[in-house]
Amino acid sequence: MEEIIRIVEAAENNLDDLCRLCVPPERQADRSFMKGVELKKIWAMDMLKRWGSVAKIAYLGDALAGLIQYTPIPEEMVVYITCIYVPRREHWRRGVGRRLLTSLIEDVRNPKSWFGGESSSALVTRPFPGEKSGQYSAKSFFKDMGFKQVEEDPGLLYYPLKQGFAYRPVEQRRPDYVPQEGDKGKVIIIYSPSFCPFSYFFLEKAEQEIEKAVPGVRISG
Ligand SMILES: CC(C)(COP(=O)(O)OP(=O)(O)OC[C@H]1O[C@@H](n2cnc3c(N)ncnc32)[C@H](O)[C@@H]1OP(=O)(O)O)[C@@H](O)C(=O)NCCC(=O)NCCS
Repeated sequence: MEEIIRIVEAAENNLDDLCRLCVPPERQADRSFMKGVELKKIWAMDMLKRWGSVAKIAYLGDALAGLIQYTPIPEEMVVYITCIYVPRREHWRRGVGRRLLTSLIEDVRNPKSWFGGESSSALVTRPFPGEKSGQYSAKSFFKDMGFKQVEEDPGLLYYPLKQGFAYRPVEQRRPDYVPQEGDKGKVIIIYSPSFCPFSYFFLEKAEQEIEKAVPGVRISG
């Protein structure tokens, strides 16, 4: 029997599903992971306010199964995929990842207010190795799905949506950190709520490792 995959646009009423999907069952009571979930909700609310759209969620039957998250980049007329993930082994290779991606492709072929009423020129992504042991990598998946490598930056992949479009990234999107007088003698960590609930866990881990390496050092965020 064919399995029913439902793709749903992330919205205020299902942000809990979007934010808890990545947390492994054995980490559901872990304070650090749950703080990451809370921070991800803040990030997602902010993105919804800014762009009206932030992610798509997949359900396989009744089960929460996957997500694809993205951000428009109006100055490049492209949509950047920050993450695709089907976390549970029992959901792998059942068409969830493909459906998430094709749903996003269909969506961004439509005119978008982000692009002044035009459709997107391409999807762009820089997949990172976040797969579990034995799981297919995002990079191999995107290549199978027809993404091309950016010539001068092969870690960056794109999927053209307009004939003849070749993606060339605009350099330097973020302002540089400028050291301040008051930062002297401190370790400064720059962190903000993000699309990944693991990021808070890694922030705490980084702080612990710095404290171990340099006992007594002041850490500021
Ligand atoms: C990549 C990923 C999204 C694919 O999801 P999925 O639902 O299992 O994939 P699908 O069943 O839709 O497969 C689509 C295509 O991908 C390829 N593919 C997926 N898994 C594969 C595997 N194990 N071996 C070979 N090809 C595979 C195939 O081309 C497949 O098409 P086909 O089944 O018609 O041959 C999933 O494996 C994943 O989440 N990987 C980790 C990604 C990651 O690191 N994210 C960041 C986490 S922090």
